[in-house]
Amino acid sequence: MFTRRQALKALIAGIDGLIAMTLAVPVLGYLLTPLLRKTGAAAWVALGPAADLHGPEPRRVDFRYTSEMGYTAESVSGFAYVVPGAGSTPLVLSPVCTHMGCNVVWSGEKQRFLCPCHGGQYTADGQNVAGPPPRPLDRLPVRIDNGILMIQPRAEM
Ligand code: FES
Repeated sequence: MFTRRQALKALIAGIDGLIAMTLAVPVLGYLLTPLLRKTGAAAWVALGPAADLHGPEPRRVDFRYTSEMGYTAESVSGFAYVVPGAGSTPLVLSPVCTHMGCNVVWSGEKQRFLCPCHGGQYTADGQNVAGPPPRPLDRLPVRIDNGILMIQPRAEM
């Protein structure tokens, strides 16, 4: 049999529990949402009017984007090479050398991307042709929205 004191203690404990649960749901949601957010697939970034970026040779295009990792979001600068493609959509190559990650530079004189670190060389469409790089330059996802060339940059750019 409950005494009056025990009944009041149980009632107060129940009210405390309700208050704790009411506060816990939004707090947990706030804390866990960034961890559950999908990462890895970067947002699309506009490089500019596609017609203006088409040229006879690879062209360096600088851009900024917001990189989100868990609780943090930071503004990051990067660049990519827009390369004339076979169709109306150009190729966009990552400048990151596939050997050890240095940034390659286009040489119009040699008609090659040159890596300053260990002498790697790539053709205009990114094929590795000399030096230690084990594979071609990465091609970035590309789309054209209302005439604007869009890419999905990678975190290491
Ligand atoms: S990092 Fe480019 S050749 Fe080594």
